[in-house]
Amino acid sequence: MELESTLVFDRAVKLPCRRVKFIYINFSLRINPVSEGSCTVVWAVDHYDVFLCPHTEKGDFLALDLGGTNFRVLLVKVSDNGRQKVEMENQIYAIPEHLMRGSGTQLFDHIAECLANFMEKLGIKDRKLPLGFTFSFPCRQTKLDESLLVSWTKGFKCSSVEGHDVVALLRKAIRKRGDFDIDIVAVINDTVGTMMTCGYDDHNCEVGLIVGTGTNACYMEEMRHLETVEGDEGRMCVNMEWGAFGDNGELEDLRTEFEREIDCGSLNPGKQLFEKMISGMYMGELVQLILVKMAKEGYVFQGRVMSALAHPRTLQDLLRVLRELGLDPSPEDCAATQRVCQVVSTCAAHLCAATLASVLRQIRDNKATDRLRTTVGVDGSVYKNHPQFAQRMHRMVHRLVPDCDVRFLYSEDGSGMGAAMVTAVAYRLDMQHA
Ligand code: BG6
Ligand code: GLC
Repeated sequence: MELESTLVFDRAVKLPCRRVKFIYINFSLRINPVSEGSCTVVWAVDHYDVFLCPHTEKGDFLALDLGGTNFRVLLVKVSDNGRQKVEMENQIYAIPEHLMRGSGTQLFDHIAECLANFMEKLGIKDRKLPLGFTFSFPCRQTKLDESLLVSWTKGFKCSSVEGHDVVALLRKAIRKRGDFDIDIVAVINDTVGTMMTCGYDDHNCEVGLIVGTGTNACYMEEMRHLETVEGDEGRMCVNMEWGAFGDNGELEDLRTEFEREIDCGSLNPGKQLFEKMISGMYMGELVQLILVKMAKEGYVFQGRVMSALAHPRTLQDLLRVLRELGLDPSPEDCAATQRVCQVVSTCAAHLCAATLASVLRQIRDNKATDRLRTTVGVDGSVYKNHPQFAQRMHRMVHRLVPDCDVRFLYSEDGSGMGAAMVTAVAYRLDMQHA
């Protein structure tokens, strides 16, 4: 199945901020089913509605979670003694930078090694457990356990993986070791994992949103709108890969010289342009480039150019951070730096809100209701850790779609948990049909 999602720009509101001017709001989103080969990627889980039925799964499930700040291996134990109970053990493993940009074989060997280490530690290496793989990159998903990487994002660039099935690559790496076996049941995107994790607690959850290293969302779409998928009944989960909006030129009027510079210096120039305006991987650099320009033009730091900048919160923090960078900032420099950080993060929050509002309108129209009540499952380090991002985004969503009662549910357990839950459901369905 393939969809093309196009962002249509409605209105840009430019916020005067001394010399830094940009805050855009209000996009509308058009979703058009297109033929194979489009650059925007879609993914479907058709088990979600089953997943929302009373849970009867039980057993032990493994999950891998690759693509965020941390690579995680998880064991999820689901027991059912009258009331379903879910327990989780997990461990974070490092993915060194040379592996992020080395060969695909090295990356998957490393993943298999971490999995072996985790199973060894928990004393489960002799068991062939079902596994769910959260692989948070744009993929062309052909089956629940088959997903071809379209292109790397977020600083990964391993050779010989693009165009290949990541499940097959993982199976090969595990087989090569020969010291344990695993049943890879499902591969999902982190947005989907987040929606699943949140959907477990709140059955109204029909959107999964990530604002972290990268940004993306998925939502439940009516099958009748998915022309490239057979059947008109029910709903399917669409992974929008909205980080790639703008890759066809839709955002050219909006992108600033700073975003263009970030893009030129990135590993994937011309790709993930919307993501480069929003997500945590680029936000710091955006602030840095603006400050460098302001310094060059003599507006701050007496014209001195700095090479790095963290995310300051208060003026005191800011003073310390700037001093650590070898600068001697005046109170005006601190205020200007703080303002730039504020503008960049507010802009990101509003862009996110604008695209999310489009998705909410789509769901509302699908349901032909005047007032939509829905839940958005959210995860990601920017949403979680930035002191004001979440609030600013919520406020703007409410402003843009006042006729939607939106509950934002933070995913406490990450999307690896969602992968384990999908695996549990798929496993049960398989058993029932066997
Ligand atoms: C985590 C999920 O909680 O959030 C990851 O488990 C996901 O799969 C991540 O990619 C997104 O956030 P970040 O900030 O780590 O990229
Ligand atoms: C990037 C990936 C996408 C993922 C998002 C958030 O945009 O392409 O698949 O969901 O980051 O992690």
